[in-house]
Amino acid sequence: MLEFPKDFAWGAATSGPQSEGNFHKANQNVFDYWFEKDPKAFYDGVGPDTASNFYNDYQTDLPLMAQAGIKALRTSIQWTRLIKDLDTGEVDPTGVEFYNNVIDCMLQNGITPYINLFHFDLPIKLYQEFGGWESKHVTDLFADFAEKCFELFGDRVKNWFTFNEPKVILDGEYLYQFHYPLKVDGPAAVQVAYNLNLASAKAIKKFKAWKKANDSDAKIGTILNLTPAYPATDDPEDKKAAKFATMWDDNLFLDPAVLGHFPAELVKILDEAGVLWESTPEELELIKDNTVDVLGVNFYHPERVQRPSVSPKSLQDWMPDIYFDNYEMPGRVMNVDKGWEIYPKTLYDIAINLRDNYGNLPWFVSENGMGVSREERFMKDGEVQDDYRIKFIQDHLVQLHKGIEAGSNCHGYFVWTAIDCWSWKNAYRNRYGLIRDDIHTQTKTLKKSGRWYKKISDDNGFEE
Ligand code: BG6
Repeated sequence: MLEFPKDFAWGAATSGPQSEGNFHKANQNVFDYWFEKDPKAFYDGVGPDTASNFYNDYQTDLPLMAQAGIKALRTSIQWTRLIKDLDTGEVDPTGVEFYNNVIDCMLQNGITPYINLFHFDLPIKLYQEFGGWESKHVTDLFADFAEKCFELFGDRVKNWFTFNEPKVILDGEYLYQFHYPLKVDGPAAVQVAYNLNLASAKAIKKFKAWKKANDSDAKIGTILNLTPAYPATDDPEDKKAAKFATMWDDNLFLDPAVLGHFPAELVKILDEAGVLWESTPEELELIKDNTVDVLGVNFYHPERVQRPSVSPKSLQDWMPDIYFDNYEMPGRVMNVDKGWEIYPKTLYDIAINLRDNYGNLPWFVSENGMGVSREERFMKDGEVQDDYRIKFIQDHLVQLHKGIEAGSNCHGYFVWTAIDCWSWKNAYRNRYGLIRDDIHTQTKTLKKSGRWYKKISDDNGFEE
C-alpha cells in the first residue's frame, strides 16, 4: 500500500472562467471580449458563456465532487464578476452573493476551499486603458482586488493564491499568441514577467496586513507550472540551452516567489541583451519581503530542449527562443489527443528540487491530469471507462510519493479537473474531468476515475 502523509489533501482544480458560465458580468474580461468573435472558443455550440454551468449548478456539482472523493477544491474568483467599479473597487452584490454561497456550500460538503485570484481573466478595461500587465498601475489594482477578497471571504477561506501560471500570460499574450491580446513582443513579455511578480508580492503584502489585523491562520501562495528542462544530449551547448529554458520558464517566477529575488544569471543575460525590466529598489525590496507561505505546482509534461537554431536580427526580434529549441525525444510516450509527452518522473525531480533548493517549503500539486477527446468512445453502461486517466494519475502519484518519502514537503494532490470544463485552447475538445459533463443537457455523472479517486482519497493511498 502506497500511503500518503496524514492530512494529505486529495483535491481537484478548476477556475471561475472555465466552469461558471452564465454569470452577471459586472465587467467584461479578456475572454468575454475576445471569444464573442472567435468560433474556436466553441465546441458543438457550447462556449464560455455556458462552460460547465457551475454558476447555476454549484449546489448539485459540489456534492457530486464530494462523491468523487474531492476533499479540497481549487477554483478562482473572477475579478470582473466580483468588482463593479474597477477604479474604486466597489463590489457587485451578485458576485459577492455567488462566491459567498459557493464557499459555504463547499464547506457544507466537506470540501476545503483553495481560492485563486487570477486565472488569465484580466478585465478588458484594464487592458484598453492601461495596457494590462504592462502597467504597474494594474499591479496596484490587482492588490486592491485581492484585499477585497480577503476581507469578504477570509473568515472561511484559509488557502489563498495570487496567480495561476503567470508564465502562461507571457507565452499566450506576448510571445506565442494563444491568449488575448495575441501580441508578439519579447521585451514586453520581460516587463510583464516582472510586473506579475510585483503584483503577487503586493497582494501578499496586503494579505499579511489583513492576516495580522484579523488574527487569522490563513496562508497564501502562488501557482506555477513548473517544467524543468532536460537537455537533448550531454553536449555543453544543449546543457546551456536547458539551463536558460529552466531559468526562463521556472526560476523567473519561482525564485522571486519563494526566495524573494530574481535569478542573477538570468538578470545578467537579459541585461546584456538590453531587454531587462524597469524596476526600482523599493519594488525589489517589496518582492524580497513578501514571499509565499506555500507553493502550488501545476504539472502536465516535461520540457526537452536543445541548442537554438536562430539568432536575433535586432532587439525588436528578441524572443526567449533565441536561447533554446524544443526537442522531441524519440520514443517518448505521448498523450496523442493533447500532444503532450507523458513523463511522471519529472514530478519526482520537482519534489527534490523544491526540497534542496527552495528551503523545502510546503507545496502541493495544484494541477495534473489528462485531456482526452471524444470520451463518448469509452462509454459503457452510461459510465466513461477512463482507465487511461486512472493510470496517468496513479503513475504520477507513485513518483510524487517517492519524492515525499525522500523528504519533500508535499501535502496534497489536485487533479485537473473535477468536472469536464471549458478551455480557451481547446473549448470542449479535450475532457479532463473525474466527472463527465454532457455539455448539451448539463447532466453530470461520475466517470470510472471518479469512483477510483474516491477510494484512494478515503484510503489515503492505493495498492501499487
Ligand atoms: C493549465 C491551466 O495550464 O492547463 C488550465 O491552468 C487549463 O486553465 C489546463 O485548462 C489544461 O490545458 P488545456 O489547454 O488542455 O485546457
